[in-house]
Amino acid sequence: MYDFAADPALPKTELYRELAQAADALTRDEPDGVANMANIAALLWQFLPDINWAGFYRVIDGELVLGPFCGKPACIRIPMGQGVCGTAAAEAKTQLVEDVHAFPGHIACDAASRSELVVPVVNDGAVIAVIDLDSPMPARFEGDDAAGIEALAKMVAERI
Ligand code: SME
Repeated sequence: MYDFAADPALPKTELYRELAQAADALTRDEPDGVANMANIAALLWQFLPDINWAGFYRVIDGELVLGPFCGKPACIRIPMGQGVCGTAAAEAKTQLVEDVHAFPGHIACDAASRSELVVPVVNDGAVIAVIDLDSPMPARFEGDDAAGIEALAKMVAERI
């Protein structure tokens, strides 16, 4: 049994440090990328308060394809450059969106989502996936969240 305790009252930097430690412990010795993405999605879901979707889209044959996640069923394929996820993947750049309704081309998978953070996962100089977090709260994500998820993306890039 894995029993990682998440205390949402922790300062964000500390919360992300603990999340990264748990993710490292779960994925370090496991070569299966799907298993690792599934456990990371579960950790994000468990550790982060006020989110309604957490998971992966993978770059396959030039488009994004849904990967392991927690939350409501989501759109399966996203063209590069479209939506928040496709923009993060095409530009290899974190997208921190305080109000999804103000993001041109935002793709609504869950009508409750109000803000979103998407971080590219880069391996060998290529974007291989994105980590996507959605929240029903406007402006739920800030710089500390982006930094925390970017550190996580870097750590797992060779494990997914
Ligand atoms: N909102 C995303 C689509 C994925 S769902 O949020 C899970 C986007 O605009 O790319």
